[in-house]
Amino acid sequence: MKRTRIVDILSDATLVGQQVCVKGWVRTRRGNKQVQFIALNDGSTIKNIQIVVNTEKIDADQLKDITTGSCLCAVGELVESMGQGQSVEMQCESIEIYGLCPNDYPMQKKGQTFEYMRKHAHMRLRTNTFGAVFRIRHHMAMAVHQFFNDNGFFYFHTPLITASDCEGAGEMFQVTTKNLYKLEMDDKGNIKYDDDFFGKMTSLTVSGQLEGELGATALGAIYTFGPTFRAENSNTPRHLAEFWQIEPEVAFLELDGLMELEERFIKHCVRYALDHCQDDLEFLNKMIDNGLIERLKGVLADDFVHLTYTEGVEILQKAQENGEKFEFPVAWGCDLASEHERYLVEKHFKKPVILYNYPKEIKSFYMRQNDDDKTVQGTDVLFPQIGEIIGGSVREERYDKLLAEIERRNIPMKDMWWYLDTRKYGTCPHAGFGLGFERLILFVTGMANIRDVIPFPRTPGNAEF
Ligand code: 4AD
Ligand code: MG
Repeated sequence: MKRTRIVDILSDATLVGQQVCVKGWVRTRRGNKQVQFIALNDGSTIKNIQIVVNTEKIDADQLKDITTGSCLCAVGELVESMGQGQSVEMQCESIEIYGLCPNDYPMQKKGQTFEYMRKHAHMRLRTNTFGAVFRIRHHMAMAVHQFFNDNGFFYFHTPLITASDCEGAGEMFQVTTKNLYKLEMDDKGNIKYDDDFFGKMTSLTVSGQLEGELGATALGAIYTFGPTFRAENSNTPRHLAEFWQIEPEVAFLELDGLMELEERFIKHCVRYALDHCQDDLEFLNKMIDNGLIERLKGVLADDFVHLTYTEGVEILQKAQENGEKFEFPVAWGCDLASEHERYLVEKHFKKPVILYNYPKEIKSFYMRQNDDDKTVQGTDVLFPQIGEIIGGSVREERYDKLLAEIERRNIPMKDMWWYLDTRKYGTCPHAGFGLGFERLILFVTGMANIRDVIPFPRTPGNAEF
């Protein structure tokens, strides 16, 4: 008999009174000698279907082996439920067991810590919480594509293997086919790359932006959506070594338009979650974070604050004078720490903040310089609980200024000539940003650790599964 997904069974009233077939994994089994109740989940929804088993119909020996985690197929009539907690249930006529589940199943007990579950990331997907998180993650990916498609952006694929360091932070994973046991050096003691696979030193990309700019200055507006990699040794709840980034890039966009796009995009994603992920959000709101749904609605309710970096630093310094304790110092010119960003968003303004016009020394080479010679048109979108969720900028489109900055920072020209060509041939004002997909998922799910919103996290010391 053809299988029906539980999500469809629970939403289609015409199935009541019909024979249905469900397949899934057992969440719980309880009951007595006469009647047993199996809660079955197939991943299509957070909700289970209750399977009511009359022990006269089904062999008791077969039933007693069915424990949490077992996989089975059940056939029976769908009826209105007499019990509480569900609208329909199945009066079971037959059960076929696909796989029993021995009692060393790691996800058996309720209330395991997230840290424990991370060590069993291959099995944690079957729990309610991770089911909810990864269904939401899927819907957020759909929201991303929908937003850009509807707004005339082209999905543009930038390379994962690259010879240039977009962020210039030297945090790249090298890609080589060289035999690391037999490395040849040149006279100066440098590794020879001309005989390596690509004939030069290459790495995994930290960002698709530079190639994205080539797309935008030809197609008008593009976005990337793919994995990016950072070999930064940051063991925090907000950093991954492999994370997914969404990077739109738009010709003829300037600072105000950039900030407007950032806000509109992120609000679209949050609204999409509220519209498409109701059951999962309600579950997470109840089990993980009681303020979640209210926080999501809060983001939609208000305009984001626009604040220059300089104004932000002034607010933080005043707060410090009034007794606010920060772990890291605040002074004009320093990179803001997550505690500073969260103070602005959670305590001072109580809504998302876009900081812009940052000191040029703490930002990347490609950002458009302001006339003050000190600041650049970079923007960071700061969110409650998260801190920085988006980093973006207007790009320096003036050839001479960009070249001077590349030289000042000693960025090798052999890696950058093609990028400079966009400014040499028909240059145009343009801007773009990068959203860390997992930071968005953190915000939308209320989960506390970024390792719990990507199926198989890669962090320093961890590449399991
Ligand atoms: O601010 P970042 O470094 O900016 C760029 O890479 C630009 N090239 C983007 C652009 O303008 N096209 O990174 C962008 C975003 C951050 O705001 C953050 O959300 C996320 O990427 N991010 C990380 N997420 C998880 N783990 C990490 N290690 C991350 N580093 C950055
Ligand atoms: Mg940044």
